[in-house]
Amino acid sequence: MNTIALFCFLFALSLIHAQEPRLNKCGFETLRLGTINPEGWLKDQLFVQADGYSRRVDEDWPDVAQSGWIGGMYEGWERFPYYLDGFVGLAVQTKDKQLLEKLHKHVGYIVSHQDADGWLGPVEGRGTMGKGLNPKYDPWPQFCILKSLIQYAEAFPENEKVTIAIGKSLRKIEERLSVGLDPFIWAKHRWQDAVVVIQWYFDHGHAEQWLLDLTTKLQSVGFDWIEHYHNFKWTEKVNMSSCFLPCHGVNSAQSVKTGLLLWRQTNKELDADNPKEAIKNLERYHGMPSGIFSSDELYAGLGTRQGAELCTVVEYMYSLEVSAMISGTKYGSLFGDVIERVAFNSLPATFDPAMNYHQYVQQTNQVTCKMSETTLFTNVGNRGNLYGKAPHFGCCTANYHQGWPKFVQHLWMKQSESTFAAVLYAPSSFTFNIKDQDVTFRTITNYPFLDGLITIQISNNGGPIIPITLLLRIPEWSSNANVTYNGQSVMVKSGTFHQVSVTSNSTITLNIPLQVRIQQHSYKNAISIHRGPLLFSLGLAYKLKKIENCKHGECDDEFDFEVTPLDRWNYALKIDKTNPDNSVKFITKSIDKIPFNHLSVPVLGIVKAKSVTTWTLDEKLQAAGEIPDSPVKSDEKEEELVLVPFGSTNARIAMFPTLE
Ligand SMILES: *[C@@H]1O[C@H](CO)[C@@H](O)[C@H](O)[C@H]1NC(C)=O
Ligand SMILES: *[C@@H]1O[C@H](CO)[C@@H](O)[C@H](O)[C@H]1NC(C)=O
Ligand SMILES: *[C@@H]1O[C@H](CO)[C@@H](O)[C@H](O)[C@H]1NC(C)=O
Ligand SMILES: [Zn+2]
Repeated sequence: MNTIALFCFLFALSLIHAQEPRLNKCGFETLRLGTINPEGWLKDQLFVQADGYSRRVDEDWPDVAQSGWIGGMYEGWERFPYYLDGFVGLAVQTKDKQLLEKLHKHVGYIVSHQDADGWLGPVEGRGTMGKGLNPKYDPWPQFCILKSLIQYAEAFPENEKVTIAIGKSLRKIEERLSVGLDPFIWAKHRWQDAVVVIQWYFDHGHAEQWLLDLTTKLQSVGFDWIEHYHNFKWTEKVNMSSCFLPCHGVNSAQSVKTGLLLWRQTNKELDADNPKEAIKNLERYHGMPSGIFSSDELYAGLGTRQGAELCTVVEYMYSLEVSAMISGTKYGSLFGDVIERVAFNSLPATFDPAMNYHQYVQQTNQVTCKMSETTLFTNVGNRGNLYGKAPHFGCCTANYHQGWPKFVQHLWMKQSESTFAAVLYAPSSFTFNIKDQDVTFRTITNYPFLDGLITIQISNNGGPIIPITLLLRIPEWSSNANVTYNGQSVMVKSGTFHQVSVTSNSTITLNIPLQVRIQQHSYKNAISIHRGPLLFSLGLAYKLKKIENCKHGECDDEFDFEVTPLDRWNYALKIDKTNPDNSVKFITKSIDKIPFNHLSVPVLGIVKAKSVTTWTLDEKLQAAGEIPDSPVKSDEKEEELVLVPFGSTNARIAMFPTLE
């Protein structure tokens, strides 16, 4: 071969090489579903969910129990896929026989009824949504069912049929895109959920070019979320004519992960940074102190009485979990902070303690939940904050099941063969095979309730001792946290992952002091009170009243519940903002079998306050009147108030005025 020929040969080789399909490696990998076991309070919480409505929804609620997805005549669009997306993790993590049996039955039905062309489930969704919103061959429910199937395939890899079904379905979606996404308004704003599945399939033995092309195609016909968050225009409450689908809370929550998913393929910094920009903008213009952003159903600004939809809560958590996985040490710590804040506050607050009932939207200052004459919510009716099995609209009844199971699954992630990252903190354990040896990691803690002491015990189970590296998330809100290992204590930097080299036979303690923090809000100069990731609120005793569900004169057998407070709520707090430790005294107790339970709270805070007699109930709205501007004057007598975790309340005040 002469030089020129050799050159040409090498050049051609380099071209072939350059075209080899690849995706950027994720910063962290998740552990296979079922690897991480909840323990302590988190296990109790998961069983509260399992033994609440989650266990019965597929027998009791027609839109799931008799869904078109499993041969029934009811809703055959997104509801069954939403339900399954959470139910997979719940069944696998509880290892509950009845739940697992149902799971195998549901997945078995769906996979064995796949059409020859790859289409999964009903061709047309029927019911609930008007024509045009729910068209034939709508790809959105495909994206959603595939998110459940990748979890199932991961937990039960021996069932190869499921992975084959996923591949066939992706091919069908590719074909379906020939008509673009404009006819399918939900798919057009939720295409990134298909990318989650495409990348999972790519990473699991199918590193093929058509999958990358499919992502490119989806991006080109889907809504541009990168631009939406990069040049964020929606700085106030929006309405249906100013911004509907891009400002829709659930679409938005689902889309927060888009940039990092795309970065795996584009390698653009702009994409990688987009989820962080998204959080920053959503918090700044629509943030609620419980961690979620207002969405009733559209972005609703910073007001204390606006709503946040339950679907938005669980989808935001999931998007941040995916983002933490892809971003790894870069922004994973920030995402972990937000996930905990939402999981420990927004998520539990919107259920009754036993998780039989939930709300469609929750409010920060929620003093009553009653049918009202008029509402502040933009696209939610006047019973949107009632508690029930399927209040207002059934999407959340289908979708909420993913909240806790996905939280459990993302507590720990893996960076390399023997490097593990603690992304979220709660009691758990897992055993992982490292270099042919089973190593067990046990996290023992009462965080976030009693204290910030987190003990990680690593055991080699009798085998040889091998080196292990831990990456411990140090929350941004923390100060003076330290890590102790082998008798040595070091101070750690907040807002990062702290790296520590240990062995497979070690005990490491992380101590994150849970001091009180006062968050100053721009809205009416109000404040909120936080201790670690927990938001504290004035929890109100209440009575419940059953409300029949009647439409057009016909009542079904479902009830919702109205909540009427029994306590006074119109207080302004006496807070020394420069020295909050003097203003709020915390008392820790023990964690109940129902961790988020207003009848038995694990921790409470005592503050001084005076009532503000001009701050009263708005009868028409059935909501607290507009919060007065702080500071406020009050001549009432000083009282001591008990504050409890926001997540344990069903009626409350969590953004307070302050006293002069
Ligand atoms: C919707 O919002 C836009 C922009 O803020 C405003 O101009 C318009 O009047 C609003 N429409 C309604 C019906 O409130
Ligand atoms: C580590 O933090 C805990 C809790 O704040 C504190 O009690 C302990 O003294 C700290 N240890 C060191 C060596 O600073
Ligand atoms: C594991 O660590 C403990 C505590 O440091 C020690 O007593 C024990 O001997 C170690 N086990 C092995 C196999 O080295
Ligand atoms: Zn919903």
